Amino acid sequence: MASFTALSPEPRVNHPDPKPVATTVAYLNGEWKPLTDCSVPINTHALQYGTGAFEGIRGYWDGTRINILFLREHFQRLQRNAKMLLMEPPTAEAMAAIAVDLVRRNAPKTNVYLRPLVYKKGTTLGPVLVNVPDGFLAYLQPLGDYLDTSKGLSVCVSSWRRLPDNSIPTRTKATAGYLNSALAKSEAVMNGYDEAIFLNDRGQVCEGSAENIFLIRDGVLSTPDRTADILEGITRKAILMLAADLGIPFVERAVARTELYTCDEIFLVGTGCQVSYVRAVDKRTVGDGSRGPITARLQTAYENAVYGREPRYAAWLTAV
Ligand SMILES: Cc1ncc(COP(=O)(O)O)c(C=O)c1O
Repeated sequence: MASFTALSPEPRVNHPDPKPVATTVAYLNGEWKPLTDCSVPINTHALQYGTGAFEGIRGYWDGTRINILFLREHFQRLQRNAKMLLMEPPTAEAMAAIAVDLVRRNAPKTNVYLRPLVYKKGTTLGPVLVNVPDGFLAYLQPLGDYLDTSKGLSVCVSSWRRLPDNSIPTRTKATAGYLNSALAKSEAVMNGYDEAIFLNDRGQVCEGSAENIFLIRDGVLSTPDRTADILEGITRKAILMLAADLGIPFVERAVARTELYTCDEIFLVGTGCQVSYVRAVDKRTVGDGSRGPITARLQTAYENAVYGREPRYAAWLTAV
């Protein structure tokens, strides 16, 4: 079986060190196998047409166990999304049980990232969602920081527009939609930026390639609303909950591009990037270029919650 090797940069210093774990076992359509033995036919519908819906879930190692963050919420979202894409996924509870089993079987001793996927496993020709059988798979890998946040992020407004809801709904976390993300992220990286910020087809600020965005103006936290062609992020919702609990005023609303150049603070959130502050947009420094005070409060509160240091948010975590 394959050895676990860290695929990402080291976690930040306040996180436990990543330690390689023994072997990685994955779930594929009812079977548990070494990840390297899991394969799909080359004519798989999802491979040919991008017909899948996925999740990204973090498990945080607290020194004795893995705490899976928002287990139920991720599988409820996956189940809803797969159904919207005319797939017949296992129940949210069944998928969550497989995820827990995945962690148990691999017994990692480092932060991990779980990737479940509902997909069209049929091999028939033609881009159609009906009458094509569905599959379900799940694997995990170690994951420290997804973005290097030590200096803050330098981002650009992408020349690529976000997929409109009436084309490929971003809300569904469909595999096909990530070509849009890949184009934007690649352009950003090739131009020396850390991340891309999409505008939607109405020209409003939307989200990053794999993150939701927040900005702060005059003490008020704003984030694009749920009709802005965003993925309705689970971290986004958690941040809004934390803001409410910390007494930080917030609003979900349309955000104009030039607000990014004139606001006091910006940060990105997501399962992967967690809370990552932005130091510049299109080479324009945000605030004084350092992490702003409201970002710092929310980032600290989020980290305390996900590492199980805040009993108030214990329900966010499933210990394995
Ligand atoms: C496009 C996009 N937006 C936002 C997010 C953040 O969502 P969540 O907080 O549920 O991970 C993701 C996560 O991968 C994403 O891919």
